Amino acid sequence: MEALGIDIGGSGIKGAPVDLATGELLAPRCRIPTPQPAKPEPIADVVAEIAKYFSWNGSIGCGFPAIVRHGVIGSAANISKKWIGVDAEALFRQTTGCPVHVVNDADAAGIAEMTFGAGQGRNGVVLIVTIGTGLGTALFTDGYLVPNCELGHIEINGQDAETFASDAARKREALSWKKWGKRFNLYLTTLEKLFSPDLIILGGGVSKEFDAFRQYLTIQTEMTPAALLNEAGIVGAALAARAIESVDISLSRLVKGAG
Ligand code: BGC
Repeated sequence: MEALGIDIGGSGIKGAPVDLATGELLAPRCRIPTPQPAKPEPIADVVAEIAKYFSWNGSIGCGFPAIVRHGVIGSAANISKKWIGVDAEALFRQTTGCPVHVVNDADAAGIAEMTFGAGQGRNGVVLIVTIGTGLGTALFTDGYLVPNCELGHIEINGQDAETFASDAARKREALSWKKWGKRFNLYLTTLEKLFSPDLIILGGGVSKEFDAFRQYLTIQTEMTPAALLNEAGIVGAALAARAIESVDISLSRLVKGAG
């Protein structure tokens, strides 16, 4: 079984067909820069372009960088505010002509890591943090997802965590790995205190640089970089497309007990 996975990000929209049994990409991914401003119609056009590029007419799963409840966008930290209240699933179904399922991008990456990556077979509380333009989080307990947990926006010292600890903040302020690493450590320490996770998986582009900043992370929790790195968003979105096939599979059951 296969599905087209599409990861909608702040700078690029990436897609590839995915083998749902193995998590492997069935073709090299296609990447198109995210239209700016990132409003609904231009993004929907890019999603359709990617489907067309792969001559796709099956199920599509999309990871989206915001709160997504039943296909409807509920927040807009790094995208156009015009998205709020838009039924992204209905919009993408219209432009692609395919069945589309939309989920939060960090939830998608988390689903992929729990199924095929660093969280495979892990019970207890597992927290995935994706570090990019935003700070995305996915929280699992015994393999079940708590969707849309949005821990990138917890307030620390009166500041939205994402504004000082994301990769965008590191680039924007030209921070050294040490300076940024200490900020990120403060963020992780706060999450550790609040959730006592058994495992933290770090994903997103910057996780490739884990060796450059791991020395500044003092948390006690077991921690590992994501295994699927940049592909997690695509693979997880494709896995989420499975939820289209059966109303019996809710998003939180994709990893554990989906049958
Ligand atoms: C958004 C999240 C998203 C994360 C990563 C945050 O700003 O609020 O929904 O998962 O960025 O893209």
